[in-house]
Amino acid sequence: MPDRSDTPHRLDPTGADQHAANERLRARGPAVPVVLPGEVAAVAVTRHEELKAFLAHPDVAKNARHFTALREGGIPAGWPLATFATVEGMTTADGDDHRRLRGLVTQVFTPRRIEGLRPRVEELTSRLLHALGEAAQGRGMGSSEVVDLREHFALPLPMAVICELLGVDPDLQGGLHRLSSLIVSTTTTPERALAANREMADVLGLVLDRRRAAPGDDLTSALLAAQAEDGDRLTDRELVGTLLLMVIAGHETTLNLITNAVRALCTHPEQLALVRAGKAGWGDVVEETLRYDSPVSFFPFRYPTRDLEVGDTAIPRGTPVLASYTAAGRDERAYGPDAARFDVTRRPAVRHLSFGHGPHYCLGAQLARLEATTALEALFDRYPDLTLAVPDHDLPRHPSFVGNSTEILPVRLHP
Ligand code: HEM
Repeated sequence: MPDRSDTPHRLDPTGADQHAANERLRARGPAVPVVLPGEVAAVAVTRHEELKAFLAHPDVAKNARHFTALREGGIPAGWPLATFATVEGMTTADGDDHRRLRGLVTQVFTPRRIEGLRPRVEELTSRLLHALGEAAQGRGMGSSEVVDLREHFALPLPMAVICELLGVDPDLQGGLHRLSSLIVSTTTTPERALAANREMADVLGLVLDRRRAAPGDDLTSALLAAQAEDGDRLTDRELVGTLLLMVIAGHETTLNLITNAVRALCTHPEQLALVRAGKAGWGDVVEETLRYDSPVSFFPFRYPTRDLEVGDTAIPRGTPVLASYTAAGRDERAYGPDAARFDVTRRPAVRHLSFGHGPHYCLGAQLARLEATTALEALFDRYPDLTLAVPDHDLPRHPSFVGNSTEILPVRLHP
């Protein structure tokens, strides 16, 4: 259905056809009224410049106490987007609270430590690539040599890395992706969302018990030590919230990035050829994929702390606002008339916003770049003739408007 400019746009919880919908949204203006599941009114900021300004605006907050409808009881129980608003961690904190929570993590998550992970990321990548060939032969999807690259490569790499960083023992890693997907899915029923949140809190509670009993050189042990030193620095709920955030942010996003980059390269072989000819690097592929097909689509939520105007749209104080990263990445005003084209040699005048901007800028950007460049280079090195086994436009979408990717990525490793 075409969007009329006077009716709020209904965000599709199945995440279908995001780029076409985004084009219509950008055409309507830099900020567009939208309706979320549960008939909750919100606004999406869709254009690059306005989004950048909004993300760093002094009168825009992230703590849900500013969310008028939630405060006034207007949000249904088990609302599929509730965790984004109410999880206790840096992503829902402002000012000093935000600095405290983010500071505890950045103390451990130093650039040196991330760079130090390079050999481990390379080793995990190499092991997964070796296992890919076997998965293709064994559990083939109807034909030998066809394998779901999302399940067997794009997912386990970031999952293993974030779990090792957090000190999650291997036996507890298995169910984490299923739970995290249910929590971030915008099609989960209220009952399933509540159950997944409870189950996730139980698993993270176990992780905390184990690291309390046997501390290691990991983030969880460091957070527990900070808490033991000074109880005021971190509540139990903030501790669980921080782990939840790190597990979800640390793998769902990089998973989408690797998936989207492989899809883009396979559907644009001339771009892959440019990389092979040394005209662009793997880092360029990663940055262009982040811009062209941002792994995070509509990120919930921010709330103006006073009535604000973005473009022609008045946003009343306390309205939940979504940052539309996938839409901003293809804004022609920022990237020129060919913004919808995948071009690894692009040298844009502006930096993409796909890792956010301002105080909540992604804490894992360096790690994500390390994982994605390592993964892509090694993948195309080992399987230079890799092709999609199903045309890109026929791939089922990951059912979410928060994430932007496909549900599966069946590839043929050899011609
Ligand atoms: C924040 C994107 C990987 C941890 C963000 C934000 C974006 C983003 C857009 C800002 C959200 C907002 O407030 O609007 C991505 C993308 C990734 C990625 C595209 C991969 C391709 C990671 C990884 C980690 C991580 C690997 C952890 C290891 C975080 C955390 C925040 C965050 C903790 C919250 C920061 C804060 O609120 O101060 N990310 N992320 N991210 N990201 Fe990432």
